[in-house]
Amino acid sequence: MKPFYVFSDTERDTLCSVFSENKLSPYENYGAFSNFIEDLASGNRLPSSFRDLCESIYLDRQNGKLVHLLGNSPVDEIIPTLDHDDPVADKYRLKTTFVGETFLGIFAYLLRTPLMSYKTRNNGDFFTDVVSINRFRGMRTGFTDGDLIYHNDRTSHPVRADFITLLGMRCPKSDLVYTSFVDGADILGYLSDDEINILSQPWYHTVVDDLTRETNQDWHLSEAHPIVLGDRTIRFQDTLTKPLPTAPTEAYTALLEFKDGIVKSPKTRHCLRNGDLFVFPNQQGLHNRERIEINDSDEASRRWLLKTYSLKDAATRDSYAKYWADGVVGCALDF
Ligand SMILES: [Fe+2]
Repeated sequence: MKPFYVFSDTERDTLCSVFSENKLSPYENYGAFSNFIEDLASGNRLPSSFRDLCESIYLDRQNGKLVHLLGNSPVDEIIPTLDHDDPVADKYRLKTTFVGETFLGIFAYLLRTPLMSYKTRNNGDFFTDVVSINRFRGMRTGFTDGDLIYHNDRTSHPVRADFITLLGMRCPKSDLVYTSFVDGADILGYLSDDEINILSQPWYHTVVDDLTRETNQDWHLSEAHPIVLGDRTIRFQDTLTKPLPTAPTEAYTALLEFKDGIVKSPKTRHCLRNGDLFVFPNQQGLHNRERIEINDSDEASRRWLLKTYSLKDAATRDSYAKYWADGVVGCALDF
């Protein structure tokens, strides 16, 4: 897709220099790391052009445009090669600079979108990774090295992010791996009022993904939930969200129409490259991953995106307060 903005090399280098002042690991001391972000936001080291850029994205969102791409963004000078048996442990060991994390942290802060995480993912880290993990090859989780069907992240969880932000750290040049987004408004545009009405009722549930089941073997299904939660907002994971056994025929028919709506809707597609920041809504649409052309499967399996989840504002974060683990605001428990 066309970038909203591409940093010049000079702008990128200036931001890299400011962000590299942050020596505090968000993986060891998130409180201190967050304080650095707050100080950065309130101080004068940040170029005004970067503040203006974030403000223009904020205003765009107020006007309903929710997908943005930034190119040539600041990332760490040294990107370690991770062992994909346990890439998180390897990241802790080998990543000693935090330019990408500081960039994602200040970006979320200036957009007034508090970060969130899950206690059972990456040990509750607010900066996680889109990487393949060897034991999940071919399975139903974001940590597979394969395609992913259209979904919201954590569809089966009661606390779901409003925005997903991806930063390209290592994106093999020879391979075309696309992240695509379908706007919920476009899908709903193909449905009748009656179909939207029945999809708005809790006639559906979602099977939990394979990683969630690994960490919580007793959790197989979400609670009963609607697919349509409001204007543009949907809760759905293709192949895993199904009607309840007690659902009326209309709920099945509406689901078929909804799935047709996904197929018919226009897609925003992007092949992330190093230094791309791609941010899109998690709930006001669906996203997927397609490996369109893989010329070097070993290289493709080493793809690494740094990722954050964020909530649309502080009030939304506070509405989830009962879910926070160990008193860490923004870090949700699994159930
Ligand atoms: Fe996802």
